[in-house]
Amino acid sequence: MLLFSKRTTTKPLTLFGLVVLVMLGGQSCTKDNTITPNVYEFQKPAHFPEPTYTFNNNELTEAGFKLGKKIFFDPILSRDSSISCGTCHSQATAFADQQLHGISVGIDNRLGIRNALPLFNLAFYKEFFWDGGVTHLDFVPLNAIASPFEMDEDIVVVLQKMRNSGEYTELFEEAFGTSTINTGLLMDALAQYMNRMVSANSKYDQFLDKKVTLTTQEQRGLQLFNANCESCHSGVLFTNQGYHNNGIDVVFPDSGRALISANPADIGKFRVPSLRNIDRTAPYMHSAKFFTLEDVLAHYASGVQSSATLDSRLIQPDGTLGIALSQQEQEDIIAFLKTLTDFEFINDPLFFQE
Ligand code: HEC
Ligand code: HEC
Repeated sequence: MLLFSKRTTTKPLTLFGLVVLVMLGGQSCTKDNTITPNVYEFQKPAHFPEPTYTFNNNELTEAGFKLGKKIFFDPILSRDSSISCGTCHSQATAFADQQLHGISVGIDNRLGIRNALPLFNLAFYKEFFWDGGVTHLDFVPLNAIASPFEMDEDIVVVLQKMRNSGEYTELFEEAFGTSTINTGLLMDALAQYMNRMVSANSKYDQFLDKKVTLTTQEQRGLQLFNANCESCHSGVLFTNQGYHNNGIDVVFPDSGRALISANPADIGKFRVPSLRNIDRTAPYMHSAKFFTLEDVLAHYASGVQSSATLDSRLIQPDGTLGIALSQQEQEDIIAFLKTLTDFEFINDPLFFQE
Protein backbone atom coordinates (compact mmCIF):
# COMPACT_ATOMS: atom_id res chain seq x y z
CA MET A 1 0.00 0.00 0.00
CA LEU A 2 1.64 3.17 -1.16
CA LEU A 3 -0.95 5.67 -0.14
CA PHE A 4 -1.47 6.67 3.42
CA SER A 5 -4.12 9.03 4.56
CA LYS A 6 -2.63 12.05 6.25
CA ARG A 7 -5.24 11.93 8.95
CA THR A 8 -4.96 8.26 9.79
CA THR A 9 -1.21 8.36 10.05
CA THR A 10 -0.97 11.46 12.21
CA LYS A 11 -3.98 11.19 14.48
CA PRO A 12 -3.36 8.90 17.44
CA LEU A 13 -6.02 6.30 17.97
CA THR A 14 -8.20 6.98 20.96
CA LEU A 15 -9.09 4.07 23.19
CA PHE A 16 -12.62 4.29 21.87
CA GLY A 17 -11.33 4.16 18.29
CA LEU A 18 -9.26 1.14 19.14
CA VAL A 19 -12.21 -0.69 20.65
CA VAL A 20 -14.33 0.06 17.58
CA LEU A 21 -11.50 -1.15 15.35
CA VAL A 22 -11.18 -4.39 17.24
CA MET A 23 -14.93 -4.88 17.05
CA LEU A 24 -14.90 -4.31 13.31
CA GLY A 25 -12.19 -6.92 13.07
CA GLY A 26 -10.54 -7.59 9.71
CA GLN A 27 -12.87 -5.28 7.82
CA SER A 28 -11.17 -2.04 8.73
CA CYS A 29 -7.63 -3.36 8.58
CA THR A 30 -5.70 -4.36 5.51
CA LYS A 31 -3.30 -7.26 5.63
CA ASP A 32 -0.39 -5.12 6.76
CA ASN A 33 -2.48 -3.61 9.54
CA THR A 34 -2.80 -0.12 8.09
CA ILE A 35 -6.21 1.44 8.44
CA THR A 36 -8.20 1.47 5.20
CA PRO A 37 -8.24 5.10 4.14
CA ASN A 38 -11.43 6.95 3.38
CA VAL A 39 -11.17 7.29 -0.42
CA TYR A 40 -12.48 10.84 -0.34
CA GLU A 41 -9.79 12.09 2.00
CA PHE A 42 -6.68 13.77 0.68
CA GLN A 43 -4.01 11.10 0.70
CA LYS A 44 -0.40 12.21 0.82
CA PRO A 45 1.75 9.46 -0.61
CA ALA A 46 4.45 8.48 1.88
CA HIS A 47 7.25 9.45 -0.55
CA PHE A 48 5.78 12.87 -1.44
CA PRO A 49 6.61 16.26 0.13
CA GLU A 50 4.07 18.09 2.28
CA PRO A 51 1.30 19.66 0.17
CA THR A 52 1.32 23.43 -0.36
CA TYR A 53 -2.48 23.61 -0.41
CA THR A 54 -3.96 24.82 2.89
CA PHE A 55 -6.45 22.07 3.65
CA ASN A 56 -7.43 23.66 6.97
CA ASN A 57 -9.57 26.11 5.02
CA ASN A 58 -11.05 23.54 2.68
CA GLU A 59 -10.85 19.99 3.93
CA LEU A 60 -11.85 17.23 1.53
CA THR A 61 -15.20 15.61 2.20
CA GLU A 62 -17.25 13.13 0.23
CA ALA A 63 -20.05 15.62 -0.40
CA GLY A 64 -17.62 18.39 -1.39
CA PHE A 65 -15.68 16.11 -3.72
CA LYS A 66 -18.87 14.89 -5.41
CA LEU A 67 -20.15 18.43 -5.81
CA GLY A 68 -16.79 19.48 -7.30
CA LYS A 69 -16.95 16.56 -9.70
CA LYS A 70 -20.45 17.49 -10.84
CA ILE A 71 -19.38 21.08 -11.46
CA PHE A 72 -16.21 19.95 -13.28
CA PHE A 73 -18.29 18.08 -15.85
CA ASP A 74 -21.14 20.62 -16.08
CA PRO A 75 -21.19 22.71 -19.30
CA ILE A 76 -23.41 25.22 -17.47
CA LEU A 77 -20.11 26.94 -16.66
CA SER A 78 -19.69 28.13 -20.25
CA ARG A 79 -21.60 30.93 -21.98
CA ASP A 80 -23.56 28.67 -24.34
CA SER A 81 -23.49 25.62 -22.06
CA SER A 82 -21.34 23.73 -24.57
CA ILE A 83 -18.06 23.29 -22.70
CA SER A 84 -17.14 21.86 -19.32
CA CYS A 85 -13.79 21.64 -17.58
CA GLY A 86 -13.82 17.98 -18.63
CA THR A 87 -13.90 18.98 -22.32
CA CYS A 88 -10.26 20.04 -22.14
CA HIS A 89 -9.19 17.93 -19.15
CA SER A 90 -10.00 14.24 -19.61
CA GLN A 91 -8.99 11.45 -17.28
CA ALA A 92 -7.74 9.04 -19.98
CA THR A 93 -4.97 11.54 -20.73
CA ALA A 94 -4.24 12.29 -17.05
CA PHE A 95 -6.69 15.22 -17.35
CA ALA A 96 -4.80 16.85 -20.20
CA ASP A 97 -6.65 17.58 -23.43
CA GLN A 98 -7.69 14.41 -25.22
CA GLN A 99 -8.13 16.11 -28.57
CA LEU A 100 -4.87 15.79 -30.43
CA HIS A 101 -5.07 19.17 -32.12
CA GLY A 102 -2.41 20.84 -30.04
CA ILE A 103 -3.72 24.09 -28.67
CA SER A 104 -6.96 23.63 -26.73
CA VAL A 105 -10.14 24.59 -28.52
CA GLY A 106 -12.71 26.41 -26.42
CA ILE A 107 -16.10 27.98 -26.91
CA ASP A 108 -17.27 28.70 -30.51
CA ASN A 109 -14.24 26.63 -31.56
CA ARG A 110 -11.99 29.50 -30.56
CA LEU A 111 -8.36 28.62 -30.39
CA GLY A 112 -6.56 29.49 -27.16
CA ILE A 113 -2.87 30.20 -27.03
CA ARG A 114 -1.67 27.25 -25.00
CA ASN A 115 -1.69 23.49 -24.69
CA ALA A 116 -3.90 22.34 -21.79
CA LEU A 117 -1.95 21.17 -18.75
CA PRO A 118 -2.69 17.78 -17.21
CA LEU A 119 -4.26 17.81 -13.74
CA PHE A 120 -2.69 15.79 -10.93
CA ASN A 121 -0.63 16.46 -7.80
CA LEU A 122 -1.93 20.04 -7.89
CA ALA A 123 -2.01 20.18 -4.08
CA PHE A 124 1.79 20.14 -4.19
CA TYR A 125 2.30 23.01 -6.64
CA LYS A 126 3.14 26.54 -5.62
CA GLU A 127 2.01 28.21 -8.83
CA PHE A 128 -0.24 27.33 -11.73
CA PHE A 129 -0.33 27.68 -15.52
CA TRP A 130 2.63 27.60 -17.87
CA ASP A 131 3.68 31.05 -16.67
CA GLY A 132 2.76 30.66 -12.99
CA GLY A 133 0.19 33.42 -13.40
CA VAL A 134 -2.12 32.01 -10.73
CA THR A 135 -0.76 31.44 -7.24
CA HIS A 136 -3.63 29.50 -5.66
CA LEU A 137 -5.54 26.51 -6.98
CA ASP A 138 -8.83 28.04 -5.85
CA PHE A 139 -8.45 30.88 -8.37
CA VAL A 140 -7.66 28.74 -11.43
CA PRO A 141 -11.29 27.99 -12.37
CA LEU A 142 -12.19 31.68 -12.39
CA ASN A 143 -9.65 32.16 -15.17
CA ALA A 144 -11.02 29.27 -17.20
CA ILE A 145 -14.62 30.45 -16.83
CA ALA A 146 -13.86 34.07 -17.74
CA SER A 147 -11.36 33.33 -20.53
CA PRO A 148 -12.82 34.31 -23.93
CA PHE A 149 -10.95 31.33 -25.41
CA GLU A 150 -12.27 28.83 -22.92
CA MET A 151 -15.72 29.27 -21.35
CA ASP A 152 -16.30 32.99 -21.91
CA GLU A 153 -18.82 33.31 -19.10
CA ASP A 154 -19.34 35.75 -16.25
CA ILE A 155 -19.10 34.05 -12.87
CA VAL A 156 -22.19 36.00 -11.70
CA VAL A 157 -24.19 34.42 -14.51
CA VAL A 158 -22.77 30.97 -13.73
CA LEU A 159 -23.90 31.31 -10.10
CA GLN A 160 -27.36 32.42 -11.25
CA LYS A 161 -27.64 29.46 -13.63
CA MET A 162 -26.67 27.11 -10.82
CA ARG A 163 -29.21 28.62 -8.43
CA ASN A 164 -31.92 28.36 -11.08
CA SER A 165 -31.13 24.75 -11.87
CA GLY A 166 -32.53 23.64 -8.52
CA GLU A 167 -30.21 20.63 -8.38
CA TYR A 168 -27.33 22.48 -6.82
CA THR A 169 -29.00 23.99 -3.75
CA GLU A 170 -29.23 20.67 -1.97
CA LEU A 171 -25.72 19.62 -3.00
CA PHE A 172 -24.19 22.82 -1.56
CA GLU A 173 -26.22 22.25 1.60
CA GLU A 174 -24.75 18.75 1.94
CA ALA A 175 -21.21 19.84 1.17
CA PHE A 176 -20.97 23.11 3.06
CA GLY A 177 -23.99 23.23 5.35
CA THR A 178 -25.48 26.19 3.47
CA SER A 179 -27.72 26.45 0.44
CA THR A 180 -26.04 29.71 -0.54
CA ILE A 181 -24.25 29.29 -3.86
CA ASN A 182 -21.37 31.73 -4.10
CA THR A 183 -18.01 32.02 -5.85
CA GLY A 184 -15.96 30.98 -2.83
CA LEU A 185 -17.83 27.73 -2.26
CA LEU A 186 -17.91 26.96 -5.99
CA MET A 187 -14.10 27.24 -6.06
CA ASP A 188 -13.78 25.20 -2.87
CA ALA A 189 -15.79 22.36 -4.37
CA LEU A 190 -13.76 22.33 -7.60
CA ALA A 191 -10.53 22.44 -5.58
CA GLN A 192 -11.68 19.43 -3.53
CA TYR A 193 -12.22 17.38 -6.65
CA MET A 194 -8.90 18.47 -8.15
CA ASN A 195 -6.87 18.11 -4.94
CA ARG A 196 -7.90 14.48 -4.74
CA MET A 197 -6.20 13.89 -8.11
CA VAL A 198 -3.01 12.45 -6.70
CA SER A 199 -0.89 10.42 -9.08
CA ALA A 200 1.77 8.42 -7.25
CA ASN A 201 1.42 4.80 -8.24
CA SER A 202 3.28 4.42 -11.52
CA LYS A 203 5.69 1.56 -12.20
CA TYR A 204 8.47 3.94 -11.13
CA ASP A 205 6.78 4.53 -7.74
CA GLN A 206 6.41 0.80 -7.29
CA PHE A 207 10.10 0.48 -8.13
CA LEU A 208 10.94 3.06 -5.44
CA ASP A 209 8.83 1.03 -3.05
CA LYS A 210 10.81 -2.09 -4.06
CA LYS A 211 7.67 -3.80 -5.36
CA VAL A 212 8.83 -4.18 -8.96
CA THR A 213 12.12 -3.98 -10.84
CA LEU A 214 12.92 -1.88 -13.89
CA THR A 215 14.19 -3.49 -17.09
CA THR A 216 17.85 -2.86 -17.92
CA GLN A 217 16.80 -0.36 -20.58
CA GLU A 218 14.55 1.50 -18.12
CA GLN A 219 17.42 1.58 -15.62
CA ARG A 220 19.79 2.99 -18.22
CA GLY A 221 17.11 5.58 -19.00
CA LEU A 222 16.75 6.47 -15.32
CA GLN A 223 20.50 7.07 -15.01
CA LEU A 224 20.59 9.21 -18.15
CA PHE A 225 17.54 11.08 -16.88
CA ASN A 226 19.18 11.78 -13.53
CA ALA A 227 22.32 13.04 -15.24
CA ASN A 228 20.65 15.25 -17.85
CA CYS A 229 17.08 16.13 -16.98
CA GLU A 230 16.60 15.83 -13.23
CA SER A 231 17.91 19.28 -12.34
CA CYS A 232 14.78 20.77 -13.91
CA HIS A 233 12.35 17.83 -13.82
CA SER A 234 13.24 17.17 -10.18
CA GLY A 235 12.17 14.93 -7.34
CA VAL A 236 9.03 12.86 -7.05
CA LEU A 237 6.94 15.60 -8.67
CA PHE A 238 9.32 15.65 -11.67
CA THR A 239 9.47 19.44 -11.61
CA ASN A 240 11.57 21.94 -9.69
CA GLN A 241 8.59 24.32 -10.12
CA GLY A 242 10.97 26.86 -11.61
CA TYR A 243 10.82 28.78 -14.90
CA HIS A 244 13.31 28.02 -17.65
CA ASN A 245 13.87 28.42 -21.36
CA ASN A 246 14.50 24.98 -22.88
CA GLY A 247 15.28 26.27 -26.34
CA ILE A 248 12.13 25.44 -28.29
CA ASP A 249 12.05 28.82 -30.05
CA VAL A 250 14.26 31.70 -31.19
CA VAL A 251 11.56 34.31 -30.74
CA PHE A 252 8.68 33.84 -28.33
CA PRO A 253 5.26 35.02 -29.51
CA ASP A 254 4.13 33.90 -26.03
CA SER A 255 6.70 35.44 -23.71
CA GLY A 256 5.83 33.08 -20.84
CA ARG A 257 7.01 34.00 -17.37
CA ALA A 258 7.77 37.58 -18.45
CA LEU A 259 4.02 38.16 -18.83
CA ILE A 260 3.76 37.79 -15.06
CA SER A 261 7.10 39.14 -13.84
CA ALA A 262 7.40 41.94 -16.44
CA ASN A 263 11.12 41.10 -16.43
CA PRO A 264 12.71 40.81 -19.91
CA ALA A 265 15.11 38.22 -18.45
CA ASP A 266 12.08 35.91 -18.20
CA ILE A 267 11.04 36.04 -21.87
CA GLY A 268 10.71 32.49 -23.19
CA LYS A 269 10.79 30.89 -19.75
CA PHE A 270 7.99 28.52 -18.84
CA ARG A 271 7.12 26.54 -15.73
CA VAL A 272 8.88 23.18 -15.79
CA PRO A 273 6.05 20.67 -16.35
CA SER A 274 5.86 17.42 -14.39
CA LEU A 275 6.76 14.37 -16.47
CA ARG A 276 4.43 12.02 -14.66
CA ASN A 277 1.98 10.34 -17.09
CA ILE A 278 3.94 11.98 -19.92
CA ASP A 279 3.31 9.09 -22.33
CA ARG A 280 -0.39 10.03 -22.11
CA THR A 281 -0.32 13.81 -22.38
CA ALA A 282 0.83 14.52 -25.96
CA PRO A 283 1.21 17.00 -27.53
CA TYR A 284 4.10 18.56 -25.63
CA MET A 285 5.32 22.02 -24.58
CA HIS A 286 3.23 25.15 -23.91
CA SER A 287 2.72 25.66 -27.62
CA ALA A 288 2.07 21.95 -28.33
CA LYS A 289 5.07 22.03 -30.64
CA PHE A 290 5.90 18.32 -30.46
CA PHE A 291 3.58 15.39 -30.88
CA THR A 292 5.76 12.49 -29.74
CA LEU A 293 8.34 11.81 -27.05
CA GLU A 294 10.77 10.93 -29.85
CA ASP A 295 10.39 14.50 -31.14
CA VAL A 296 10.98 15.89 -27.63
CA LEU A 297 14.17 13.87 -27.15
CA ALA A 298 15.39 14.78 -30.64
CA HIS A 299 14.80 18.40 -29.65
CA TYR A 300 16.99 18.16 -26.54
CA ALA A 301 19.67 16.24 -28.47
CA SER A 302 19.89 18.34 -31.61
CA GLY A 303 17.09 20.89 -31.90
CA VAL A 304 17.81 23.36 -29.09
CA GLN A 305 17.70 26.92 -30.40
CA SER A 306 19.65 29.89 -29.22
CA SER A 307 18.05 32.91 -27.57
CA ALA A 308 19.03 35.43 -24.91
CA THR A 309 17.44 33.52 -22.04
CA LEU A 310 18.34 29.93 -23.04
CA ASP A 311 19.16 27.89 -19.92
CA SER A 312 22.89 27.32 -19.47
CA ARG A 313 22.29 23.60 -18.84
CA LEU A 314 21.43 23.33 -22.50
CA ILE A 315 24.74 24.80 -23.65
CA GLN A 316 27.69 22.42 -23.61
CA PRO A 317 31.19 23.59 -22.54
CA ASP A 318 32.31 23.84 -26.19
CA GLY A 319 29.30 25.99 -27.03
CA THR A 320 27.29 23.25 -28.76
CA LEU A 321 23.59 23.62 -27.98
CA GLY A 322 21.54 20.83 -26.44
CA ILE A 323 22.29 17.67 -24.48
CA ALA A 324 24.60 15.12 -26.13
CA LEU A 325 22.43 11.98 -26.41
CA SER A 326 22.83 9.16 -28.92
CA GLN A 327 19.79 7.60 -30.59
CA GLN A 328 20.05 4.66 -28.20
CA GLU A 329 20.25 6.97 -25.18
CA GLN A 330 17.18 8.88 -26.35
CA GLU A 331 15.28 5.60 -26.62
CA ASP A 332 16.45 4.57 -23.15
CA ILE A 333 15.17 7.81 -21.63
CA ILE A 334 11.81 7.32 -23.36
CA ALA A 335 11.61 3.78 -21.94
CA PHE A 336 12.15 5.26 -18.49
CA LEU A 337 9.59 8.04 -19.06
CA LYS A 338 7.00 5.39 -19.90
CA THR A 339 7.39 3.95 -16.39
CA LEU A 340 5.83 7.20 -15.11
CA THR A 341 2.34 6.33 -16.35
CA ASP A 342 -0.02 5.75 -13.44
CA PHE A 343 -2.69 3.41 -14.78
CA GLU A 344 -4.44 3.28 -11.43
CA PHE A 345 -4.93 7.05 -11.56
CA ILE A 346 -6.15 7.32 -15.13
CA ASN A 347 -8.57 4.42 -14.65
CA ASP A 348 -9.75 5.30 -11.14
CA PRO A 349 -13.58 5.22 -11.15
CA LEU A 350 -13.59 7.72 -8.27
CA PHE A 351 -13.08 10.50 -10.83
CA PHE A 352 -15.60 9.26 -13.41
CA GLN A 353 -18.37 11.58 -14.46
CA GLU A 354 -21.63 10.42 -12.89
C1 HEC B 1 -10.87 25.31 -23.60
C2 HEC B 1 -10.09 24.36 -22.84
C3 HEC B 1 -10.10 24.46 -21.32
C4 HEC B 1 -11.19 24.46 -20.48
C5 HEC B 1 -12.67 24.46 -20.85
C6 HEC B 1 -10.66 24.44 -19.13
N1 HEC B 1 -9.29 24.42 -19.17
FE1 HEC B 1 -8.04 24.26 -17.57
N2 HEC B 1 -6.47 24.63 -18.76
C7 HEC B 1 -6.52 24.81 -20.13
C8 HEC B 1 -5.26 25.35 -20.61
C9 HEC B 1 -4.92 25.69 -22.05
C10 HEC B 1 -4.43 25.49 -19.46
C11 HEC B 1 -3.03 26.11 -19.41
C12 HEC B 1 -3.29 27.61 -19.31
C13 HEC B 1 -2.05 28.45 -19.21
O1 HEC B 1 -1.00 27.96 -18.85
O2 HEC B 1 -2.13 29.65 -19.52
C14 HEC B 1 -5.22 25.02 -18.32
C15 HEC B 1 -4.74 24.97 -17.02
C16 HEC B 1 -5.49 24.51 -15.93
C17 HEC B 1 -4.98 24.31 -14.59
C18 HEC B 1 -3.55 24.56 -14.11
C19 HEC B 1 -2.75 23.28 -14.02
C20 HEC B 1 -1.31 23.53 -13.63
O3 HEC B 1 -0.55 22.57 -13.50
O4 HEC B 1 -0.91 24.70 -13.50
C21 HEC B 1 -6.03 23.89 -13.82
C22 HEC B 1 -5.99 23.53 -12.35
C23 HEC B 1 -7.20 23.85 -14.68
N3 HEC B 1 -6.83 24.21 -15.96
C24 HEC B 1 -8.48 23.55 -14.26
C25 HEC B 1 -9.62 23.80 -15.02
C26 HEC B 1 -10.97 23.84 -14.49
C27 HEC B 1 -11.37 23.58 -13.05
C28 HEC B 1 -11.80 24.13 -15.53
C29 HEC B 1 -13.29 24.36 -15.50
C30 HEC B 1 -13.74 25.46 -14.66
C31 HEC B 1 -10.96 24.25 -16.72
N4 HEC B 1 -9.65 24.06 -16.36
C32 HEC B 1 -11.45 24.47 -18.00
C33 HEC B 1 -7.60 24.51 -20.93
C34 HEC B 1 -8.91 24.46 -20.48
C1 HEC C 1 16.87 23.70 -18.08
C2 HEC C 1 15.77 22.95 -17.55
C3 HEC C 1 15.35 21.70 -18.29
C4 HEC C 1 16.12 20.59 -18.58
C5 HEC C 1 17.58 20.36 -18.27
C6 HEC C 1 15.22 19.66 -19.23
N1 HEC C 1 13.96 20.19 -19.34
FE1 HEC C 1 12.35 19.30 -20.15
N2 HEC C 1 11.29 21.03 -19.97
C7 HEC C 1 11.75 22.18 -19.37
C8 HEC C 1 10.77 23.24 -19.56
C9 HEC C 1 10.89 24.67 -19.06
C10 HEC C 1 9.73 22.69 -20.31
C11 HEC C 1 8.47 23.41 -20.81
C12 HEC C 1 8.89 24.31 -21.96
C13 HEC C 1 7.77 24.96 -22.72
O1 HEC C 1 6.65 24.47 -22.73
O2 HEC C 1 8.02 25.98 -23.35
C14 HEC C 1 10.08 21.29 -20.53
C15 HEC C 1 9.27 20.38 -21.20
C16 HEC C 1 9.55 19.02 -21.33
C17 HEC C 1 8.66 18.03 -21.85
C18 HEC C 1 7.22 18.31 -22.32
C19 HEC C 1 6.29 18.23 -21.12
C20 HEC C 1 4.86 18.59 -21.42
O3 HEC C 1 4.00 18.28 -20.58
O4 HEC C 1 4.57 19.22 -22.44
C21 HEC C 1 9.29 16.83 -21.80
C22 HEC C 1 8.72 15.49 -22.22
C23 HEC C 1 10.60 17.07 -21.26
N3 HEC C 1 10.74 18.42 -21.00
C24 HEC C 1 11.56 16.10 -21.06
C25 HEC C 1 12.87 16.37 -20.71
C26 HEC C 1 13.94 15.40 -20.76
C27 HEC C 1 13.76 13.94 -21.13
C28 HEC C 1 15.09 16.06 -20.41
C29 HEC C 1 16.51 15.51 -20.37
C30 HEC C 1 16.97 14.93 -21.61
C31 HEC C 1 14.72 17.42 -20.10
N4 HEC C 1 13.37 17.57 -20.32
C32 HEC C 1 15.61 18.41 -19.67
C33 HEC C 1 12.95 22.33 -18.72
C34 HEC C 1 14.01 21.44 -18.79
